[in-house]
Amino acid sequence: MKNIFISGGAGYIGTHCVISLIKSGYSPIILDNFSSSHKSVIKKLQIISGKRVKFYNVDLRDKKKLRSIFKKHSCEIVIHCAGFKSVEKSIEKPISYFDNNIGSTLSLLECMKDQKIFKIIFSSSATVYNDSQPLPLKENSKIGKTQNPYGNTKYIIERILMDLAKNDSRWSISIARYFNPISSHESGLLKENSNGVPNNLIPYIIKVAQKKLPYLKVFGKNYKTKDGTCIRDYIHVTDLADGHLALLKNNKLKKGLNIYNFGTGKGSSVLEVIKAFEKQNKISIPYKYTKRRPGDVAVSYCDPKKAFKELNWKANFNLQNSLIDILK
Ligand code: UFG
Repeated sequence: MKNIFISGGAGYIGTHCVISLIKSGYSPIILDNFSSSHKSVIKKLQIISGKRVKFYNVDLRDKKKLRSIFKKHSCEIVIHCAGFKSVEKSIEKPISYFDNNIGSTLSLLECMKDQKIFKIIFSSSATVYNDSQPLPLKENSKIGKTQNPYGNTKYIIERILMDLAKNDSRWSISIARYFNPISSHESGLLKENSNGVPNNLIPYIIKVAQKKLPYLKVFGKNYKTKDGTCIRDYIHVTDLADGHLALLKNNKLKKGLNIYNFGTGKGSSVLEVIKAFEKQNKISIPYKYTKRRPGDVAVSYCDPKKAFKELNWKANFNLQNSLIDILK
């Protein structure tokens, strides 16, 4: 059994990683302050996996506590998923976003170094790409000029990790750039936590399907795309979790820094997502066009070939079958 610390392991991506890790014989240890999740998720993880799941309620900025946790377990690697992730809230509270996302990463790195843990997988985002790049987005496409404080935290953390790898040869760093993660574990027990009105497309459509919201607002209809709505690369969260396993199994956490896009490589417009959802769930989704949402890029999808070539990983779900069981 190999211990793996997973920060933010009680969150949307983290929980799915925990399930994939346990399935493959790893022993994940969750580090989470439950600020955007609920402790009941631990029980759900235990039900799904049939295993006891170790967790610590810790804020990564609490170095004293973090160091004492690291001392208790022998472990070589941390998967770092913890972080605030709402674009809207980051605009309202930028300082809190910088403090939480960057502050916790710096504290984590320092405590890892003290404990001689030098391997890390960082949850980054497609949002780090500069929006004037040719498509599909490749790992060596330009990054920066991010549109909001949330995106900036991801960009700044990537830069910190790049400098770290460059200046201290003990580190092995993988940056996983997620495209648009959707859906959830087939049990229906693990959901994206969206209290109140969701910001993201699929959680919003689900609320409309459940008649909790009257209609979907489609943000913009005059983008330069095939139907005028924005295009994104939607990836099933289970595929994403398996991408982390591929990083562990293929020993790509070799010295230095490696970056991988985790997406399907296929872009779908907002209208295509609505149609796919309606078809899959045999339900009509009323929608109205509204003005563009500030900060949205017109098109974002990746070239996932590097991950296939080097990690033997590719997404198994397409948009349509990512929507199976989504109303569970
Ligand atoms: N959209 C709507 N109506 C909605 C919600 C979204 O039309 O109610 C559209 C958006 O304009 C966009 C597309 O649906 O064109 C996808 O929007 P999401 O909010 O679901 O996803 P984003 O592309 O904005 O988000 C992605 C990642 C996030 C990351 C963010 C950073 O999924 O994890 O980029 O910008 F935080």
